[in-house]
Amino acid sequence: MSSLSSETESIDISGIASSVEDAIFTRHSIRDYLSKPVEDSVLQELFSKSLRAPSWKNSQPWKVHVVSGPKRDRMAELLQERAKQSETPVPDTIWPTGFPADAKRRMFDLGMKIYGAAGIERKDKEARDKFMLRNFEFFGAPTAVFITTEFELNFYIALDIGCFLNTIMLLARSYGLGTVPQAALSAFPEVVRKELSLAESEKVVCGLSLGYPKPDSVLNKFHTPREEVSDIVKFYK
Ligand SMILES: Cc1cc2nc3c(=O)[nH]c(=O)nc-3n(C[C@H](O)[C@H](O)[C@H](O)COP(=O)(O)O)c2cc1C
Repeated sequence: MSSLSSETESIDISGIASSVEDAIFTRHSIRDYLSKPVEDSVLQELFSKSLRAPSWKNSQPWKVHVVSGPKRDRMAELLQERAKQSETPVPDTIWPTGFPADAKRRMFDLGMKIYGAAGIERKDKEARDKFMLRNFEFFGAPTAVFITTEFELNFYIALDIGCFLNTIMLLARSYGLGTVPQAALSAFPEVVRKELSLAESEKVVCGLSLGYPKPDSVLNKFHTPREEVSDIVKFYK
């Protein structure tokens, strides 16, 4: 039997992870940020180290666009405007649709937690839509990251980029930074391409918000649960 109940551990999100294990256990998605900019030297170091991520035959199918300052503000404005016109995403990638019952339960639980923390009633669609738009202002993060590829989009490219994303997120913890990976930032790729002057062949796979977490925000406090190891991992001899 799985357990979704063991969640609210106390995690110091403003601390700096001192080991990989520490980074793994203290990372969770941050959806409320301080406006304090991330220092250029930190961004340089973080992204230079992140390139150590593994990929299929070392093909490194990614390009990273790190957006801060006025450019970040403009992109937040444009993406929100675009999302208000029509919420229907038009991503370059295929977003998943059908999910098994177990996953639906976990997704429902996540929704309850996020909207609960944001003080939003489940039935209040207007408030939920408004919160959804926070994705497009990067939840207040001073830096937005877009990951693109010119490779043919396929399963292994997605795996490679997943490895890359996680490397960025874990490294971020060793600088005391928070992150949230966001499919939402790939919803309107034409806006991203236009604003970053990218070729049509540059496909937007995923985005990520990056910054210093607001330490007291309830949105940053919940630590999503995981299934029991015995339900997921089988050991053989
Ligand atoms: C590929 C991917 C896409 C995601 N897209 C979004 C998103 O668009 N908006 C959002 O708020 N969170 C997004 N998330 C964050 C997940 O909801 C979160 O990782 C999950 O609930 C587990 O919680 P944790 O990151 O706090 O451990 C995404 C995560 C992944 C891996």
